[in-house]
Amino acid sequence: MEIQTGPIEYINQELYFDGVKVESLKEHFKTPFYLYSESELVKCYQDFAQGIKDVGLNGMICFALKSNANPTLIQKLASLGSGADIVSGGELKRALECKISPQKIVFSGVGKTQDEIDYGIQMGIYSFNIESIDELELISQRADHFNKKVDVAFRLNPRVKAQTHKHISTGFKTHKFGLLKEDIIELSKSESLKKHVSLKGLSVHIGSQLTNLEASLEAFTKLSDTANAIGGLEFLDVGGGLGVNYDINNPVAPTISQYMECVKKGLSSAKVDKVVFEPGRRIVASCGVFVTSVLRKKFSEDCHFVIVDGGMNDFVRPSLYEAYHEIYESKQTNDKVETDIVGPICETADCFGEKRMLSQLNAGDLLLISHTGAYGYSMASHYNLRAKPKELIVTDKEVQLISKEHSFEI
Ligand code: LLP
Repeated sequence: MEIQTGPIEYINQELYFDGVKVESLKEHFKTPFYLYSESELVKCYQDFAQGIKDVGLNGMICFALKSNANPTLIQKLASLGSGADIVSGGELKRALECKISPQKIVFSGVGKTQDEIDYGIQMGIYSFNIESIDELELISQRADHFNKKVDVAFRLNPRVKAQTHKHISTGFKTHKFGLLKEDIIELSKSESLKKHVSLKGLSVHIGSQLTNLEASLEAFTKLSDTANAIGGLEFLDVGGGLGVNYDINNPVAPTISQYMECVKKGLSSAKVDKVVFEPGRRIVASCGVFVTSVLRKKFSEDCHFVIVDGGMNDFVRPSLYEAYHEIYESKQTNDKVETDIVGPICETADCFGEKRMLSQLNAGDLLLISHTGAYGYSMASHYNLRAKPKELIVTDKEVQLISKEHSFEI
């Protein structure tokens, strides 16, 4: 099969990633590892930015660091003009270390601690996206303590049900996120609020891996209505969530231009200067792959297992969300067999793909799992006391190691 999807292609039945023969990596790097393509990262960011321009919006892209916080990637995004959507002090530290301007940083999340709030206030971030009345009170007290006026936005819970996996759907009242419209309007009138914080905007984020734009349109329209009921706001933040095509035989993700048209339509009645975007997955998913080696094969009656050296601690999406990711073998042969690709962890969920038609594989052969740039390494753990995977990047066909030890102390 001659396929080409983003940076992945077969040439004479050998797998290449961004122009690098995957099999050749064996000599220099121990598996498992994540491998990123700088050119795909740049392309995804630029396509998103161009999409905003094409619909004539004044947009600010705040890349969602939770999807991938590798410093090399973040520095690249910063150099392209990206800001950051952060959810912890560690992410704020990382964004600043990677030279993202504080005035391009928005801080989301329901559980900001006092230390994290203090750090954000001292660094002068663009906005705290507030998710509860208690959080507003704490930010206001800390602003008073530092004798500063702090810029904030309220995150709207628009009471819409996004069609995505239940673990990553966030826009309904039974979800812990955001504030209801009536509460936001009430809070915006509070005189004590105005002493220490300035209400600059509103935000919304109804879920991730969104493939149907109806719920997004409803959410953006409700965001505009709420903004109009308050008046005088500087920005609206439409969150992230735009899905990607994980299954090449079942492309479901909207195009960038369909998404931007949806944003524009939803916000058409709003009178604000700026629209903030918080994309994560759409910027980094396709730029990363996970590379793992076959350890051995095993048969259980008609079940054919291939056991690989990567596990659910390295890449958890299939186990946690039953997520589908394409899997490619580094050398193709014409005799394909139905294969279950499983890791070494002592859980049945430790499975990257079931009943995949793959070439006959032997110990030492490499497999590549695609679209793992988002929520891949960032969700990796030391479960089973396993080391975390390394991270590599391809830049102009050169491969280099880009993982480092990090401290998250703020
Ligand atoms: N903004 C907020 C407030 C968010 O909570 C998120 C993601 C984003 C932006 C970025 O969303 P994206 O554009 O990446 O969809 N671990 C899950 C995804 C969790 C998403 C959490 N919030 C997964 O692997 O599918």
